[in-house]
Amino acid sequence: MRPSRSILERSVVLKSTRRQSLKSKGFFMRYLSGIQPSGNLHLGNYFGAIREHILSQKPGNEGFFFIANYHALTTEKDATKIRKQSLEVAATYLALGLDPKKSVLFLQSDVPQVHELAWFLSTIFPVARLELQPSYKDKISKGFEPHHALFAYPMLMAADILIYNSDRVPVGKDQLPHVELCRDAAQKFNLMYANGESLLKIPEAQIREEVAIVPGIDGEKMSKSYGNDIAIFAEGKALKTRVMSITTDSTPVEAQKNPENCTVFKLFKLVGSEGEIQALADRYRAGGMGYGEAKKKLLDQINTYFEPSREKYKALLKEETQLLDILQDGGKKARAIAEEVMDRLRQKMGIIRTF
Ligand code: ADP
Ligand code: TRP
Repeated sequence: MRPSRSILERSVVLKSTRRQSLKSKGFFMRYLSGIQPSGNLHLGNYFGAIREHILSQKPGNEGFFFIANYHALTTEKDATKIRKQSLEVAATYLALGLDPKKSVLFLQSDVPQVHELAWFLSTIFPVARLELQPSYKDKISKGFEPHHALFAYPMLMAADILIYNSDRVPVGKDQLPHVELCRDAAQKFNLMYANGESLLKIPEAQIREEVAIVPGIDGEKMSKSYGNDIAIFAEGKALKTRVMSITTDSTPVEAQKNPENCTVFKLFKLVGSEGEIQALADRYRAGGMGYGEAKKKLLDQINTYFEPSREKYKALLKEETQLLDILQDGGKKARAIAEEVMDRLRQKMGIIRTF
């Protein structure tokens, strides 16, 4: 029994069939990634994830980017926050240049089929392999409740990726074990149900080495859970306080300094132009420049870099209906592809549905 689909969903499937044929001739590359709505997004999220997603938006590519609100439930139980932060993630992407006509921006909760796929994958995936996941151990060591969803998180993430026939998964380095696990799950599934044929497409992780880990103000990996982050849209005094409190060593002003060992410089490299980076590196090496001056340059540069998007972000947050419309449209496109994939799997697995 075929599932019923709306006219719009059917037309998306048709387009997607055409796309499939173009893809088989090497024309399309589908990028898929998700980000949790679990707090203020910071420079680590931008340079390690969001910017990559937006940069993948070029002819020949197709971007699928979603707000992982189901994943956020593993650590956040405040409904008001989950809702508000989901819309903030959408506004952040749009303000920073994601074009909903070129990419598909959607909510994970608009594709409930991912849970069905996560369950299918769970029926073939070894518990022992999940127990080795660094993120599970890490969360528990930080005092998070070790509930089943935290443990099964990588199964849902694997489903998020596989359900759209994704080719590339741009993520930060910390997410690599999850993508590896997803590949293993897909391979095992293909062996079990299709003699190793490509029933589920095996995706590749994409990591940009030069910005693999963005440092926080204490020099450790920037993360909201370490309290060392700089928010993408921080401004004014709040931004100044964060930048001015970046940890530096005690080399005196007049001494020559190695820029590559300094967190201020590492962050400047992300927001400065090539010429500006070179000029600042020369100042470090020449001596005579204190860290306070370097921090002011970083502050100015962050302002220049993010100012235009900051204004767009504020305007978008006031337009909730517009945001929801964009997400709804993205959800329809994502759901149509997910349903197509699930149809194939259910048939292979002998799962009957009567609606
Ligand atoms: P956080 O560590 O603040 O909780 P998340 O784990 O929610 O951030 O990360 C969301 C995305 O941003 C992931 O793809 C992750 O790899 C990327 N990311 C987060 N922090 C950094 C960082 N410091 N450097 C590079 N990428 C990062
Ligand atoms: N686990 C990712 C994170 O915490 C978010 C995520 C969920 C994701 N599903 C995904 C990322 C699928 C890439 C692909 O950042």
